[in-house]
Amino acid sequence: MTFDLFDNLDDATPATPPSEPLADGAVVLRGIARPDAEALLADVHAITIAAPWRHMITPGGLKMSVAMTNCGHAGWVTDAGGYRYDPIDPLSGQLWPAMPASFRHLATTAAAQAGFAGFEPDACLINRYEPGTRLSLHQDRDERDFNAPIVSVSLGLPAIFLFGGMRRADPPQRVRLAHGDVVVWGGPSRLAFHGVAPLADGDHPLLGRLRINLTFRKAL
Ligand code: SIN
Ligand code: FE2
Repeated sequence: MTFDLFDNLDDATPATPPSEPLADGAVVLRGIARPDAEALLADVHAITIAAPWRHMITPGGLKMSVAMTNCGHAGWVTDAGGYRYDPIDPLSGQLWPAMPASFRHLATTAAAQAGFAGFEPDACLINRYEPGTRLSLHQDRDERDFNAPIVSVSLGLPAIFLFGGMRRADPPQRVRLAHGDVVVWGGPSRLAFHGVAPLADGDHPLLGRLRINLTFRKAL
């Protein structure tokens, strides 16, 4: 005789983490980055030693309130010349730091769970938000190939993610993203407008008053 039945009743952890559909091709995978968070943040720290946080300038001349850096074969940059992916960090004149295995593994796993098997990111934009920082509605469309999805990992303070439609004027859904949540959008949602509402103040056990977002793309 065994007590397997009772063991199972005791186990509150579902076998597959809950996923919440946002739209056709878009899903929130709740908490899937949580077990890896400390390793991911150690890797972010190492990246920012070689490629420090910076506030980039939009083509229109405005300084972005989100601080950014990148890793991988290409980094997303903006300056007076426009938006682009560049294999070189303009601040250091060196290649961007390599994408850590922890990043690649999470991005590939999350994409597969969202129905995009075989995702191989070559670029990761790393965003840092302080209280009050926002990211206005935009499309990710500087990548060469829109067949690959976008995988976006939230760490630290919670944020309200704005997920709109194909037109800027489409009213966005407001989705609360907490530490460890991952959003994947691709297929018919690949060019959906999205953004982040001004970050509310708070105190996160790992990141204090910060939110860090990792956005994986196939850029090249
Ligand atoms: C982005 O669109 O690049 C970032 C989204 C986020 O911070 O959640
Ligand atoms: Fe984006």
